[in-house]
Amino acid sequence: MKNIIIHPHKVKRNDREKIKNQKGCVIWLTGLSGSGKSTIANELEYELNKMKYHTYLLDGDNIRSGLNSDLSFNENDRKENIRRISEVAKLFVDSGIITITAFISPFIKDREKAKKIIGVENFIEVFIDTPLEECIKRDPKGLYKKALDGKIKNFTGIDQKYEKPINPNIHIDTIKEDLNISINKIINYLDKKGYIN
Ligand code: PPS
Repeated sequence: MKNIIIHPHKVKRNDREKIKNQKGCVIWLTGLSGSGKSTIANELEYELNKMKYHTYLLDGDNIRSGLNSDLSFNENDRKENIRRISEVAKLFVDSGIITITAFISPFIKDREKAKKIIGVENFIEVFIDTPLEECIKRDPKGLYKKALDGKIKNFTGIDQKYEKPINPNIHIDTIKEDLNISINKIINYLDKKGYIN
């Protein structure tokens, strides 16, 4: 970039991480609307906070009502949504924070780009695997009904695609597992990989 000179900071990521004895990372939840991303993200953050880790949660509806309020749900805007979130998440990683993101992020190429921006060693892809029929049945916000009635366009799973992760770091089956099992699975992964101690 022309005339942009990045200034090196005296306090580095490692200096921030040492204070909390944790490693900055992004726990990237992906799944259909109504799959349980926000519920799992909230509970996970609650548990990590109780364990005294420093966390932050970036969630679809919150980011879309602020930073990304100018974006729609067409494919290009979803791509831009994920790009901006990835850049924000990268800053959180540099701050040493365990960052949880809960976005549908329906396209493989956008999640791959997110992984590249954030850094593969900092990126944990978690597939919240709830079948479409179950999400339609749960329909917590009444959005599937509206989409099926043609009142919302470009709705994921109805008239826009969701591309499942091929090889996620963690696979959560919300039909077979209860919430506690899912949370423990993620916390055990963080422990095993050295993000927490
Ligand atoms: S994406 O695909 O990652 O850009 O979407 P995201 O930023 O996670 O936003 C998803 C939430 O927006 C609401 N909503 C829609 N979802 C999917 N498709 C369409 N067309 C749509 N319109 C509004 C919905 O509440 C999503 O929240 P969750 O928590 O996923 O149900």
